[in-house]
Amino acid sequence: MERTDKKILCIGLVCLDIINVVEKYPEEDTDSRCLSQRWQRGGNASNSCTVLSLLGAPCAFMGSLAPGPVADFLLNDFKVCEVDVSLVLERSQCSVPVSVVISSETTGSRTILHSNRNLPDVSVEDFSKLDLSQYHWIHWEGRNAEDQVKMIEKVKAYNRNEEKNNTITISVEIEKTRETLYQLFPHGDVVFVSKDVAVQFGFQSAASALKGLYSRVREGAVLVCAWAEKGADAMGPDGVVVHSDAFPPEKLVDTLGAGDTFNASVILTLSRGGTLQEALTFGCQIAGKKCGVHGYDGIVQ
Ligand code: ADP
Ligand code: FRU
Repeated sequence: MERTDKKILCIGLVCLDIINVVEKYPEEDTDSRCLSQRWQRGGNASNSCTVLSLLGAPCAFMGSLAPGPVADFLLNDFKVCEVDVSLVLERSQCSVPVSVVISSETTGSRTILHSNRNLPDVSVEDFSKLDLSQYHWIHWEGRNAEDQVKMIEKVKAYNRNEEKNNTITISVEIEKTRETLYQLFPHGDVVFVSKDVAVQFGFQSAASALKGLYSRVREGAVLVCAWAEKGADAMGPDGVVVHSDAFPPEKLVDTLGAGDTFNASVILTLSRGGTLQEALTFGCQIAGKKCGVHGYDGIVQ
């Protein structure tokens, strides 16, 4: 199989986002009307697939779903977006995770209330069934990290037996401030660490976070840190911090999924041989466009 025919695989969450667009964030214990309300497919890995697909990259999503009308809605939306869902795992007797999102027109802020009752993540056993020759890049949204490390080990073993141009690039996202996720640092060729995690470690800028956290990644890896309206920074093995400013839209409309959009755009650029600077700039450009629209329509012209 030609490298260009292979897909980018994103492993992580798909959930239902019930998005309530309000003029301004409500006071507690008040009764107000939304400007609009919609259902949208969400979840970091799922959103990144949407963006990869919009950018013209063949991609696949792997994650769990519980059968029912919500799953039908989500699967149909994947289909509309031309994301390969052949690896989606059906878990009966479980519930689909749901986020209630309050999206403020005034500030563009998104407040997320997420609930995941009982849906198990992708297991090592599920992952072992994959035909890895179908993919040139696999991205893990940090979740069940202990198992995810084992999945990554399988990819590393696969890579050891392949010619260089057939190997799979590994990326991981460490977004939530959960201690268990930090074990993922040394396992990606590309590691995305969030502002929240950086702040939790005591850093006040993306550049200081990169310098402070770089010792945690493996030799030769790239560490990337996005910082909302301040843009994003990255550092590779040469120790040089690369930066892109944000590209703010004319009006900030909806920041839900900006990080997932950024990750997808960075992954795509690097997978096509772009430089770190090109990847960051493109990531911030596309994420900026996303912040100017509801959902993902029109982020790629
Ligand atoms: P998330 O909160 O979704 O994880 P991040 O804060 O990590 O998103 O931001 C990812 C990228 O999205 C930033 O690097 C930036 O390019 C863009 N972005 C996010 N928020 C804004 C904003 N308020 N204005 C302009 N760009 C933004
Ligand atoms: C955005 C997002 C939403 C989802 C939430 C889960 O990055 O993936 O789509 O509801 O985060 O934490």
